[in-house]
Formats: sequence, structure tokens, C-alpha cells
Amino acid sequence: METVQEILQTDTRPVPPVLKQESIKNLGTADIPREIFFSPEYHNLEVEKLWKKVWQWACREENIPNVGDYVVYDVADLSVIVVRSKTDKIQAFYNSCLHRGTQLCVNEGNTLALQCPFHGWTWKLDGTLAHIPCRWDFEQVENEAFRLPEIKVATWQGFVFINFDPDCESLESYLENLPEHFQQFALQERFTAAHVAKVMPANWKVALEAFLEVYHLNATHPQIIKFTGDINAQTDIYGSHNRAIIPFGVPSPHLGKLQDPQAAAIGLIEFIGIDPEKLQISKEMKPRAYAAEATRQYFNQNLELDCSAVSDTEMLDLISYLIFPNFITFTSVTQPFEFRFRPYGNDPDCCIMEVLILQPCTSEIKPPAAKIHWLTSEENWSDAPELRQSGPVLDQDASNLLLLQKGLKASAKPGITLGNYQESRIRHFHQVLDEYLS
Ligand code: FES
Ligand SMILES: [Fe+2]
Repeated sequence: METVQEILQTDTRPVPPVLKQESIKNLGTADIPREIFFSPEYHNLEVEKLWKKVWQWACREENIPNVGDYVVYDVADLSVIVVRSKTDKIQAFYNSCLHRGTQLCVNEGNTLALQCPFHGWTWKLDGTLAHIPCRWDFEQVENEAFRLPEIKVATWQGFVFINFDPDCESLESYLENLPEHFQQFALQERFTAAHVAKVMPANWKVALEAFLEVYHLNATHPQIIKFTGDINAQTDIYGSHNRAIIPFGVPSPHLGKLQDPQAAAIGLIEFIGIDPEKLQISKEMKPRAYAAEATRQYFNQNLELDCSAVSDTEMLDLISYLIFPNFITFTSVTQPFEFRFRPYGNDPDCCIMEVLILQPCTSEIKPPAAKIHWLTSEENWSDAPELRQSGPVLDQDASNLLLLQKGLKASAKPGITLGNYQESRIRHFHQVLDEYLS
């Protein structure tokens, strides 16, 4: 570790040229008001102006492969049934009976029709009214007017998105430049190998923001610093979305003179669970190229996955996109995670946090998607073995969230202060959120 003297010296290095990037300079340097992380009024505003207006990821296509398969997607107190109504058609409906309002479906399942559990009103999968018990008693009900109200649906890269706003722009236009970026990642060809969820004691933005910067790595995850070039991450700000490329398999500049490229390469492959002894790689290779080749061989041996054409950066680095507002996708082969954060009911102090592993698929037929594994409030992320080496890392992140939610309320300071480069994705996120709410 560096001495205090060395740390002070590091901190007085000249301003990195990245701070001069126009897209980042334009974000400004103002503090973000702390109330927005716990105020019920702000939460209500988000429901009206954000969640009812924005495209949001509801499920994966492989969650509903057969006609009649459905998934319920809840956000705040809004609830949607996403159903495969025909082999090639997915529809979404408000999850509320048109008789007296009972929720029609919970969780997920397969059904021939959407039938209310209370009095048995029934709709076909395409939303047309099929049956009302004692039809004679409802002469005021016209079949056409009592179709289930629909919600917009669109798919991209295997993700099913919904939007409550009937006048919204198309998903394609909403995604801006991302479809072009993602062509090479082909996430629609991957399958859900793990899906873990937990209600976390923090506002959804507090939890989301823990995954929008790597400034916390040195203090929160010191064990991964030896192979993570945290400070060297590249940040890109787009219209509503943003991206970071965080180099893995290289040492953190925080290590100062202790930076060891060899140890970084070995540290990363051991973290992934690769035994270097089982590989045949020339020792002549540069350390990062060695780590990339090790992961290629590992995936070839274990998943029969040919990664020979995949670049070093796509093999190793954390390539992370924020798809506004609440979806963070990591596209690399070795870290193929999807994160989603959403309010839990109308409690601004809680959120649902989900982590998926989208594994590349080698067989013609995709394996069935992993069922969602809900952790209880007593369980840790490391209690989900399917998350492998990431569970303990997520527990370190999770340990900050309650402290942050409580500390935000207890503060004497009106707002939070952000780093101008390393936390620019958070600032950008708030800028876009402000645009929705104003
Ligand atoms: S509330 Fe649904 S059938 Fe009565
Ligand atoms: Fe973290």
C-alpha cells in the first residue's frame, strides 16, 4: 500500500484529460438534493412522470417460450401481465380485473385464459372478453369496451420491454445508438443461467448508483483491486443512456508501486475460477493477453464455446451500459450480468434488486431460463450459489446500501457531492431523470 505521502502525491496529479470531454463537462458539478432518495412526494412524481412514461425491461423472451406463458412485472404499485398470446406474439395488459379490480395473475405461470380468481370473469390471451358468469346480470357491459386494456410491448436482444404510455416513442428510437453497439453482443442468443432477487433496504436509485461507478472499489472491494484498472475506466455519455468500460486483468493505479501486471492477470483468472495449471498457454504472452487466452480456453473446455474471434476487451473487461432508467447490462463473456432496480411498492426506502447471468448458449435449443430465486431479508447474495464468485462482492455492495439510506436522512448537508469524472454516469442519470420529472 502507498504511504500517506504517496497518496497525497497521487491526489495532486494534473487533471486527467478525460475531464475535458465535452459530454462530461456539460453535466456540470452541482450537488444532487438528498431528499429525492427518500421523499414520498418525489416517489409519487417518479411514478407519474417516469414509470408511467418510460420503456422498461419487464422480462426475457425465454421466460415465456410457450403460448399461455406469462410473467407479472410490478413497479411501485403498477402491475403488468406480460403474456405470449400466440407463438409469435407477446402482449401486455394491466393486471387488474375489469369487474371489481382484483389482480388477475401473480408471479408467473402458464394459462389457457386470463381468469379472475374472485368471480371468474375470463379473457382470452389476446385480451378479448371470453366469459362473465351470469352474463344476464351485466347488461351494461359491452364486450368490446371490456377488452383488457393493453400496454405497449417491444423486444430487443431477447429482452421484453413495456411502456404504459400509449403515445410513447418506439423502443428502437428510445434506445438511440445502442442497437448498433449491441449487434456484436447478440444477447438474444444467450440464456438466463441465474436469476436472483432481493428486496433491499434502500431507494432504487441508491442501489442503482452503487453499480454506476467504480470509485468505491478501493474502499469496498479491496480484494479485486489487484486486477481491476478502476481509475482507468472509460466513461461515455449518450443521450439518455451511458456506458463504462472498466479494464480487468490489469492492476489498479491505487496500488502505486505495487502494481503487478502478472499478478493482475493471474488474480483475475483465479477470481473467475480458472486453474492456470489446466491450460496450455505460452508463458511468453503479455499478462493481459494471457488472461484473455486463459478465459477463451476455459470457456471452450467448460461450455464448448468458441471465443477465438472475441477481442481481449470483450473477454475480460466490464463493459457496462446503463439503459435508462433502471437496467444495467454487462456484456462481456466472462462477466455477463444484468442488473435491474425498481421501487418496491410505494416505499421509497426499499427496492427490488435483481441480478441475472446471461450465459452464451452453445446448443441449438436454449436451455430453459433459470427460475427467479428470491432471497429473504436474512439471506445474503452469497447464499445464492448460482452467482458464483460474485455473491460475496454483491454482499460488500449491499452492506453500504442501508448505511447510505440512513445516512442520507441523517445528514446536515442538503445534497450529495459527485466526482466529476468517476461519478459522471450518476450525474448523467439524474440529469435525464430531471428531464422526465420536470
Ligand atoms: S373482481 Fe374479478 S371477477 Fe370479480
Ligand atoms: Fe461494487
